[in-house]
Amino acid sequence: MKIKEVLNQKNAIYILTKLLNKDKTWLFLNDDLEVPKKYFEIQEKIKEGYPIEYLFKEVFFYGDRFYIDEGVLIPRDDTEIIVERAINLINKIGNSKLKVVDCCSGSGVIAIEIAKHTKVKVIATDISDKAIEVAKINVKMHKVDVEVKKCDLFDIKADILVANPPYVENSWKKPNRFEPDIAFFGGEDGLDFVKKIILKAKDLNYKACVIEIGFNQKKSVDKFLKTIGIKNYEFFNDLAGNVRGVEILMKN
Ligand SMILES: C[S@@+](CC[C@H](N)C(=O)[O-])C[C@H]1O[C@@H](n2cnc3c(N)ncnc32)[C@H](O)[C@@H]1O
Repeated sequence: MKIKEVLNQKNAIYILTKLLNKDKTWLFLNDDLEVPKKYFEIQEKIKEGYPIEYLFKEVFFYGDRFYIDEGVLIPRDDTEIIVERAINLINKIGNSKLKVVDCCSGSGVIAIEIAKHTKVKVIATDISDKAIEVAKINVKMHKVDVEVKKCDLFDIKADILVANPPYVENSWKKPNRFEPDIAFFGGEDGLDFVKKIILKAKDLNYKACVIEIGFNQKKSVDKFLKTIGIKNYEFFNDLAGNVRGVEILMKN
């Protein structure tokens, strides 16, 4: 089969430029060439649900390219609003001596983007060995000063806590069977980690938190924050208009 016969297939341009190590223009100028056999094997794997990001070990987030591998959550576009919100908050406080913890950091994308766009000290924490390994690769790749630490949530005194923790209800299904369970499930209502993180940040005297939540969790988080006496917080939406995060100022 010729390249021109597959170019309209989903992901064809991306896969072929990767496989042939050529750019898009070259591909269109040489579309009479035969499609490599590997192309069809890859399309088959993708059809079975295997994420294309794991196949090529790369993912794009906040305009940058990151390394990704099996065993670590593939960062989602929606999480970019958490980065945006955290950067705005840091700039509003306007103190370069601030210390920021990205808890449940996975591949490290949130921590790395905050480090790239501000002058604060950033620490990334995760409980998974694989996530720690991938985050360290990304820190090196982006040449940023982010400390990567393996731990259960966090036990670090700092000023701002940023997190995209596991927040999916245990009864729900994962979007695919290849990403790790540990990155998704957060208990019966999904909020075990969100609640623990907020309580820890409060105990450790953090100034503020920016946390990603599920589209259906606003009511429960609102109730929880009121119960523990936190008054100063704001929910924010993703681009589709769903509530997907909360920014909390811990001191009322
Ligand atoms: C939803 S993923 C987020 C990853 C990354 N922040 C992102 O946005 O792409 C949640 C992460 O929490 C980590 N995690 C789960 N339980 C944890 C715990 N008790 N302490 C620290 N990290 C944990 C998982 O390993 C996973 O990397």
